[in-house]
Amino acid sequence: MSERGRFITFEGPDGGGKSTQLEHLCRRLEHAGVVVLPTREPGGTPVGRELRAMLLVPDRAPLAPEAEALLMCADRAQHVAEVIRPALSAGMVVLCDRYTESTLAYQGFGGGVDLASLQAVAEFATGGLTPDLTVLIDVDVRLGLERRRKAFRAGEGEFNRIDRRRLDYHQRVRNGFLSLALREPERFLVVDGALAPEVISDQLWERVAALVGVRAEIPRLL
Ligand code: TYD
Repeated sequence: MSERGRFITFEGPDGGGKSTQLEHLCRRLEHAGVVVLPTREPGGTPVGRELRAMLLVPDRAPLAPEAEALLMCADRAQHVAEVIRPALSAGMVVLCDRYTESTLAYQGFGGGVDLASLQAVAEFATGGLTPDLTVLIDVDVRLGLERRRKAFRAGEGEFNRIDRRRLDYHQRVRNGFLSLALREPERFLVVDGALAPEVISDQLWERVAALVGVRAEIPRLL
């Protein structure tokens, strides 16, 4: 358990509907009277927003894979110190869009950076802060990237430097997430991102209501 509050992270390949589900869950928890803090990585702090631009804006200077991994972890270290730990100490429920598993899946499984080294750096960056629950929204990479592209064309969201990588990179990322979930089945809730958003929302709610200790009858606010 993480200090006084609860720490829930959302992970998965791009285009699985993670951010939408996080928003819905946030509203449902607030409706149940819970104090919630939604946040994201990279970019959950002022310093993190500068790092996010270096990492994700397509025309920025290329980064070596290890540098990319360290900048992701620098963003996380700042985020944990400035935002996540204080919120947990105040008893809040923190909902974080991406955390350590993204670094392991993207920079490790996808980019080929040594996993054991990444795990050590991630541990250093977070001081060992582990989520109470990690929701993995799994999605076929073609479907996910197509959704992202469509949204981008419609003027929503971004199609960032990492989205633009080759399909085989994204395939390794997806497989990486799934193998991380298999290693810690208690902490992970794996849901199928191809299901209707309402169905996913209810699957999440059942688990989160029990974790946070609120009544399960709070309506879905989709
Ligand atoms: P974002 O637009 O926030 O994507 P999403 O809505 O899918 O979360 O962009 C974050 C991108 O950064 C996403 O492509 C995954 C990548 N990322 C990493 O490669 N490593 C990391 O440690 C984190 C936190 C994100």
